[in-house]
Amino acid sequence: MPTIVIAYHSSNHHTEAVALEVAKGAESTGASVIVHNIENPVERLWSDLSAADCIIFGSPTYMGDVSAVFKTFAEQTSKPWFGQEWKNKLAAGFTNSGTPAGDKLTTLQSMTILAAQHGMVWVNCGVMPSVYTGDGKNLNRFGHYLGLATMSDNSPVSPTNPAAEDRETARQFGIHVAQATARWASGQKAA
Ligand SMILES: Cc1cc2nc3c(=O)[nH]c(=O)nc-3n(C[C@H](O)[C@H](O)[C@H](O)COP(=O)(O)O)c2cc1C
Repeated sequence: MPTIVIAYHSSNHHTEAVALEVAKGAESTGASVIVHNIENPVERLWSDLSAADCIIFGSPTYMGDVSAVFKTFAEQTSKPWFGQEWKNKLAAGFTNSGTPAGDKLTTLQSMTILAAQHGMVWVNCGVMPSVYTGDGKNLNRFGHYLGLATMSDNSPVSPTNPAAEDRETARQFGIHVAQATARWASGQKAA
């Protein structure tokens, strides 16, 4: 079974709640998932990242981009970048913000560029917006395809903050990324 590491930052736990939903979705496929808060990294963060088949990046959108904590982490990845140690791992990303648009796209783009610099292979959101499927579930309600985009308000984390439909979108994103990782990892072994 493939191993997925979710490396996220979250100041007030909303992005963390999304990270845990992504993990739930990925785990439901049988993937092994390790969730790391990069603000207070444990020693095994870097060895877990090194061993992963796929890394999912997560950050709140702050001032229209990844948070400063996430950016610091991104710069710290220059060590594995130098030897292209993450080349051909899969990568994906998600962001949570306080408004429906919130310039979340820039955050996702920053993550894709980070992945590209590492020679990683990007997996997109993979969840069709409900407005087109007519399933009435309000999934991918902000219509982002590059990665997962969710929203919370300033009240504490609860089952409806981030919203239930965003949590379900997060689980489906987790399934999509984990299934892609399983296909990719078996192909890599066969090659
Ligand atoms: C410094 C700062 C900058 C922010 N910038 C944005 C922004 O550009 N767009 C937006 O929609 N929300 C913005 N917000 C709201 C956060 O995105 C939101 O509170 C955050 O996603 C909550 O996640 P967290 O609890 O994981 O930190 C900002 C919040 C802070 C504290």
